[in-house]
Amino acid sequence: MSEIVAARTPSYSRIELASVTSRAQTNLLGNIHGGEVLKLADSAAGVVAQRHSGGPAVTAALDEMAFLEPVRVGDIVRTFAQINWAGRSSMEIGVRIEAQPWDLATEVRHVGSAYFVFVAIDAAGRARPVPDLEAETDHDRRRLREAEIRRAHRLARRQEIEAGRLSP
Ligand SMILES: CC(C)(COP(=O)(O)OP(=O)(O)OC[C@H]1O[C@@H](n2cnc3c(N)ncnc32)[C@H](O)[C@@H]1OP(=O)(O)O)[C@@H](O)C(=O)NCCC(=O)NCCS
Repeated sequence: MSEIVAARTPSYSRIELASVTSRAQTNLLGNIHGGEVLKLADSAAGVVAQRHSGGPAVTAALDEMAFLEPVRVGDIVRTFAQINWAGRSSMEIGVRIEAQPWDLATEVRHVGSAYFVFVAIDAAGRARPVPDLEAETDHDRRRLREAEIRRAHRLARRQEIEAGRLSP
């Protein structure tokens, strides 16, 4: 695990991953299975969470995974991942997924987007504190504002469901 720091910027942990899809990843329609796309996004988000928090982090939740267009065999899939928000131990990571035929340098399609919540954990698997997020650009500040709205909705939804289970 790396040293404890007070704050890190989004650019410190931002990454881009690329891979080429294969026939082994297809669904019954012959396109790339949604779960394969999700796995790429989760992996990219996990790297960002690990970098920002300076140690292990696990996927706690995923919301707003949007599959916008099919991914085809032979597409180069690029995942762009960046931290949008950091709390005490949790972080929201946004992922944008693009695809492009391996043999054509032209058409790039935005095929999906997702927001993951990762929680940094210690050696015992308990939540541990993460550095604050120091937004650098107007884009970072917009993402931070929007992530706070999603966080508030997630918490409110969870509390409402839990309250409903307690009342007969
Ligand atoms: C994620 C995990 C460590 C959270 O443990 P926990 O006991 O609920 O921890 P806490 O209640 O202290 O919450 C820790 C943080 O996670 C957040 N959190 C926990 N569950 C969440 C959820 N479902 N959605 C959003 N945030 C969540 C809390 O809001 C809190 O955020 P904060 O510290 O920034 O304020 C635990 O649920 C876990 O280990 N889950 C399994 C993870 C896993 O196996 N993932 C798949 C493979 S990587």
